[in-house]
Amino acid sequence: MNSTNQAFIPFHIPEIGEDEISSVIETLRSGWLTTGPKVKKFERDFASYIGCSHAVAVNSGTAALHLALDAVGIKEGDEVIVPTMTFAATAEVVLYFKAKPVLVDCEHDTLNLDPSRIESAITSKTRAIIPVHFAGQPCDMNRILEIARQYRLKVIEDAAHALPASHHGRTIGTVGDITCFSFYATKTITTGEGGMATTENSEWAERMQMMSLHGISHDAWNRYTEEGSWYYEIFNPGFKYNLTDIAAAIGIEQLKKCDRFHQARQQIAMRYHDCLADLPGLQVPTCRPDVQHAWHLYVVQLDLEQLRIDRRDFIKALKAENIGASVHFIPLHLHPFYRDSFGYEPADFPNASAAYERIISLPIYPKMTEADIEYVISTVSKIVKQHRR
Ligand SMILES: Cc1ncc(COP(=O)(O)O)c(C=O)c1O
Repeated sequence: MNSTNQAFIPFHIPEIGEDEISSVIETLRSGWLTTGPKVKKFERDFASYIGCSHAVAVNSGTAALHLALDAVGIKEGDEVIVPTMTFAATAEVVLYFKAKPVLVDCEHDTLNLDPSRIESAITSKTRAIIPVHFAGQPCDMNRILEIARQYRLKVIEDAAHALPASHHGRTIGTVGDITCFSFYATKTITTGEGGMATTENSEWAERMQMMSLHGISHDAWNRYTEEGSWYYEIFNPGFKYNLTDIAAAIGIEQLKKCDRFHQARQQIAMRYHDCLADLPGLQVPTCRPDVQHAWHLYVVQLDLEQLRIDRRDFIKALKAENIGASVHFIPLHLHPFYRDSFGYEPADFPNASAAYERIISLPIYPKMTEADIEYVISTVSKIVKQHRR
């Protein structure tokens, strides 16, 4: 408690109800813990929710990205375009193939991959683009798909933040070649850890399914059921990326609530927007027309020219008032590995480098009460006003 008796408002609290708990208990009692009927149902339900032909469940969003790049044939020496404003996973999966992630700057306002900077990053070795729908707002997919068609590149969407989202009426999960979702604890829906890859291409779906479980011809569920057989064949050295039925049991129940969770996030975003948009010293997130934003994150930017407080101290001031905040992201080019391996300089990515000094992610999740939302708004406003030049 601080002087205002306000209990700490964490950056995130997952919303797990009795439905998820009962579903897990039922699964534990069923005798089938690993990939089985619950995973198959979760895949069917997810495909139907998104409106796509195939959904392959895996144990993380990172695994989904890795399998997607494998499915479209990324090889050693290839190059893949990745935004610098993203999490470690988006670029590290490219390196798993000894391929090169070629970082590209973001738009200064949406912080999404800037399509106008893609073409100058394309070489004869470029094979794919991984747009990341930052904070849950879809990238300019029309422009990105146009560039991809022109240069014959595959588009693997990193939709870790973008459930549910749409771009110009098209649901994210049905737009690019393969789309990868994450069910990490902070995401719109969670399985603790988990992920899903969606595609219209049945060959890629089969390949991802096979590679997610050691590259063998069929999964344990098929092998150990009455109608299954002991026989299997290894077609490739695959991975151990399968989701458990315990996790899928949570996912099935969470998916039923996805629209409600999204509405709650959207309402919080609108409340923040209404109360903070006119506050000099702070910029609220930019929303493009014709997109449905998933509002995984609500990222404000400090107007440093108008303030006497920097981002680090602003987050400290929020913490002193019992509000948890975060930063999404420390751009990849500023991390020692990417800086030292590829020689990237902050000036190579002017928008992401400038944004990094200004961005703060505020709490946004369905479990926030009206009083929590009010308190975040009044505290942010107070700190801004206290530190205005
Ligand atoms: C943009 C982005 N891509 C990929 C991932 C990886 O997802 P996971 O943690 O499920 O592996 C994350 C995780 O937070 C993310 O934010």
